[in-house]
Amino acid sequence: MTKIYDFKNNIDSSAIKELSEALKNGKLVVFPTETVYGIGANALDYDAVNKIFKAKGRPTDNPLIVHVSNKEMINNIAKDISNIEQKLIDNFMPGPITIILNKKNNIPSNVTCNLDTVGIRMPENIIARKIIESSGVPIAAPSANISGKPSGTNIQDIKKELDNKVDYIVDGGECEIGLESTVVKVENGIVNILRPGKISPEDIQNLGLSVKLDSHIFNEVKNEEKVQSPGMKHKHYAPNAKAVLVCSDNEERKIEQIKELIKENKDNYKNIFVLGFEEHSKYFNDVNFLSFGTNNDLNLVSKNIFSSLRKLDKQKCDFCIVEGVKKQGIGIAILNRLIRACGYNKIEV
Ligand code: TXA
Ligand code: MG
Repeated sequence: MTKIYDFKNNIDSSAIKELSEALKNGKLVVFPTETVYGIGANALDYDAVNKIFKAKGRPTDNPLIVHVSNKEMINNIAKDISNIEQKLIDNFMPGPITIILNKKNNIPSNVTCNLDTVGIRMPENIIARKIIESSGVPIAAPSANISGKPSGTNIQDIKKELDNKVDYIVDGGECEIGLESTVVKVENGIVNILRPGKISPEDIQNLGLSVKLDSHIFNEVKNEEKVQSPGMKHKHYAPNAKAVLVCSDNEERKIEQIKELIKENKDNYKNIFVLGFEEHSKYFNDVNFLSFGTNNDLNLVSKNIFSSLRKLDKQKCDFCIVEGVKKQGIGIAILNRLIRACGYNKIEV
């Protein structure tokens, strides 16, 4: 049985103690972070970490990131930290970033899937920090979802998927950001973004550092290709419906293309949806429309994106046309998730 704690209004300190003891004893705890919820286990406990892979049905070549609550903990598990990496740590932690560092030997092989590196993240969310701090051990935690599905950002979605698969679920309300952390790896003095997130390329450039976006952020990984981050290879975020992403610099062209797609597919599908900006609903009266927010506020879109993708399943959508957003700031991260949700099925007009 999964035990649920509600920390939305009040963080109960005796419950924090119970959760941290449970983690130390090899149990799984779902906890909120500012990005998405995580399924946590003691990162130093091989058997506990194995339980995460089981609960999620996660491919065993996709490494976990390790969560810490202070900077000393980083030095206990990572080594040879360069000046650039230190600069990233000093400027962005705690916050929505994961930095891939050389790992020390105390991290079990299943956390990193036998890589020499480990992803380190220091969440800002107060509940996450209290749980990690009180347990005193680093916490391995992937996003709280069944592998391949959108990451869990609210308790209803998470309960539906993970009830009875984990020991505890902590409700901290809806996640503030709603998209997973920016994953970076420093190579040859350049900060390579392996997964875009709230911390944007511009934010990193503003520290005086060179940045590049990994080529797989918007492009499908071919079978034989070697990738920097194993997560890039796997199917992710996909709704049950067939989905297509429509992108354009020009809003009118984009809307026309979506109308065209509706016309072409109307007779082939029973339950077509357009997922897009609320202000565009008026253009698509003959199909279902699901809003993911407004064009003026991409932070709101980022917050809604995963729950919107799940709504498509709940409403039995069989074909979804998804509106693209501007490829800028957090828009880069939103587009990365949408392209993957659509199985790289994208039309640019
Ligand atoms: O915001 C987040 O990062 C959330 C919360 C819970 O902290 N966690 C999360 O974890 O999104 P997960 O496991 O769903 O995604 C971690 C990503 C995967 O794509 C994985 O392949 C990549 O990070 N990764 C982990 N360790 C790596 C490593 N050593 N080298 C390259 N990529 C790594
Ligand atoms: Mg994930």
